[in-house]
Amino acid sequence: AAIMTATLALSLAGCGGSSGDSKSSGSSDSSVANADKPLCWFNRQPSNSSTGELDKNALNFNKDTYYVGFDANQGAELQGTMIKEYIEENIATIDKNGDGVIGYVLAIGDIGHNDSIARTRGVRKALGTDVEKDGAINSDPIGTNTDGSSKAVKDGSIEVGGKKYIIRELASQEMKNSAGATWDAGTASNAISAWASALGDSIDIVISNNDGMGMAMFNSWSQENGVPTFGYDANTDAVAAIADGYGGTISQHADVQAYLTLRVIRNALDGVDIDTTPDAAGNVLSSDVYYYNEDERSYYALNVAVTADNYTDFTDSTKPYGPVSNQLDATTSPEKSVWLNIYNAADNFLSATYQPLLEKYDDLLNLKVDYIGGDGQTEANITNRLGNPSAYDAFAINMVKTDNAASYTSLLNQ
Ligand code: BGC
Repeated sequence: AAIMTATLALSLAGCGGSSGDSKSSGSSDSSVANADKPLCWFNRQPSNSSTGELDKNALNFNKDTYYVGFDANQGAELQGTMIKEYIEENIATIDKNGDGVIGYVLAIGDIGHNDSIARTRGVRKALGTDVEKDGAINSDPIGTNTDGSSKAVKDGSIEVGGKKYIIRELASQEMKNSAGATWDAGTASNAISAWASALGDSIDIVISNNDGMGMAMFNSWSQENGVPTFGYDANTDAVAAIADGYGGTISQHADVQAYLTLRVIRNALDGVDIDTTPDAAGNVLSSDVYYYNEDERSYYALNVAVTADNYTDFTDSTKPYGPVSNQLDATTSPEKSVWLNIYNAADNFLSATYQPLLEKYDDLLNLKVDYIGGDGQTEANITNRLGNPSAYDAFAINMVKTDNAASYTSLLNQ
């Protein structure tokens, strides 16, 4: 009889998920309505993809809803400044064809994504190629602009050592593939070939809204041609490439963001103050690496420039941030289950940097996370896999399109 009871218990425990019974996943608390469970948006802030206006409904879905990202404007300014300083320091060799015009091409990630828009603006502002549109810097792609006649950008200028140079955005394009995936590295690699044949040695600098696209262009063209290439994210491969001539990148402190993504959930589930720091395990997140904006319900990590001067400090982008890498005690923070999606499993930053970090922190924070990898194209490809929200204690969501928060919250409201 004892054996039979044990067998029955085992087979019941193995039923997982299919019955729709919230107890089936083991740890979810069935007394909490899905609409009241902690929800953390990350990487793509709920917002209007045309105007950038924050989606306050989504950010205030319930009392335990937050967004975790990074300060896009501070990072964009750093990226622009890093490139400008590089030009100044390398003025003797940068203008390949010696025509007095320093030409750059720009790979744009997603014209409806605030991070991408900020980076395009940051580069144009620092290099003086910015033009105003509706009260802000125009962030539209320009196609090609060989002669400087584009209306969406203008020629900038820089004076170094008593000599004046023109800075021109020769070309820019949103890197979206035919299936609709944005920030697409393959598209960037095709674009640089087309730009190289059309613009040749007038391309002095290659700039990208992220390292995924930047490295695709570096590997397929710029390294071989000795053209400095700049990205964003400080993925491990891009940092390593600095030794081989990659110009530089920006760390958006993914190690801090991945921690915060899971920490806001952990603290909400434990019913402790969301900002508890240091926590019982001695983890401390100090204000030099992030800040919280109460009104926006958003945590923003701060960015750091990674160049030839300091890249050896950034060689592993998947290493947890030291001050927050202590294991939580499972008696006070017991295992909980979390549903978490990555909007595009093929995105370099998310798959090579962010998710590996999350996987390390989930152990430290005693969270059992189900990672769902999307196709980067449609929300349905992801929401289809949120069929049984009752099986989870909390949710962490990375949308395909920042306008689409309701595709997820409607499932939690049912
Ligand atoms: C990253 C990009 C990434 C995008 C995805 C950005 O913050 O810098 O590399 O493709 O997020 O949403």
